[in-house]
Amino acid sequence: MRKIALLTSGGDAPGMNACIRAIVLTCLRYGIEVYGYRHGYNGLLDQEYLNLRAKNVLNIIQRGGTILRSARCLTFKSDDAAKIAAKNLDILGIDALMVIGGDGSFRGAKHLSNHWGGQVIGLPGTIDNDIYGTDATIGYYTAIETALSSIDKVRDTADAFERIFLIEVMGRHAGFIGLNAAIASAADQIMVPELQRSCEDELQNIINHIDAVKRRRGTSSYIVVITENLWPEGVTKLAETLTEKTQIECRPVILGHVQRGGSPVSQDRVLATKMGAFAVESAMAGETGVMITEVNQQVQCAPLEVSWSKQKELDPYLVKIQQDLFDLLKRP
Ligand code: F6P
Repeated sequence: MRKIALLTSGGDAPGMNACIRAIVLTCLRYGIEVYGYRHGYNGLLDQEYLNLRAKNVLNIIQRGGTILRSARCLTFKSDDAAKIAAKNLDILGIDALMVIGGDGSFRGAKHLSNHWGGQVIGLPGTIDNDIYGTDATIGYYTAIETALSSIDKVRDTADAFERIFLIEVMGRHAGFIGLNAAIASAADQIMVPELQRSCEDELQNIINHIDAVKRRRGTSSYIVVITENLWPEGVTKLAETLTEKTQIECRPVILGHVQRGGSPVSQDRVLATKMGAFAVESAMAGETGVMITEVNQQVQCAPLEVSWSKQKELDPYLVKIQQDLFDLLKRP
């Protein structure tokens, strides 16, 4: 193993820099040259790269975003693009490519491996935590913290006005951030894709719950955490509907991309460092077509296809607790 290249792709996630740092330093420890492609797969197509040295990764562990920049590269789906990438990797003499990103980026890595003889390794980096086969993804814990600190702040103003707030969190089509941020902030209700009923049922359920809670504790703040892309007409419309139906002011708050930024929390830095170092050692051991996962604190390799083979489930016990607490709030 003489040369390793890496890139960050798709939605950036806090901890990607920590992962880049771990890969670079582990490579240097083993005397491997390391190159970073910029702007995701685009950099691979455009030969936009830099030789990474220890000084490039100094003081980056605490920084959000990615020093290599990121992008979504739709053209990479074509065979022609994968062939160009393969040629460019060969020109540079790369033995293994590391891709830090989500399942879309992993599909890109798999596609590349059909056209390139080098080794390909994926590292799960996404705030959504929607990658099957690993307990957590890099960036997920920080996103929960960011959502949580915002929900706590909204609770203050919600309490002051005794209003309903709908807080939209990211997650693409997965409720991991939503469920965990809701539990940690003692939100009154959650709406996540995994537990979704029909829109009419969802709406009626919230209205009934608000009524029951009001009977039990009088007028008070009421917080609903809702995953993005869930309500067909959007949360602003849902807030209007709730205001009309309950006669209590309801405001929408869309947390958006703030959840992708910020300094990574320690869990993300440690996970990123562990996975980054393990990725290099796995490449040295000859692994290819795999992603790095962590299951019960054991870092390991799994085929890239595992990441999209099944839908990752929410922790059923956490779901049960959340539902039990809702029911408790309703009791007279
Ligand atoms: O996958 C990460 C993510 O932040 C999702 O939570 C969200 O749906 C999406 O990316 C947003 O993408 P973009 O930055 O392209 O708007």
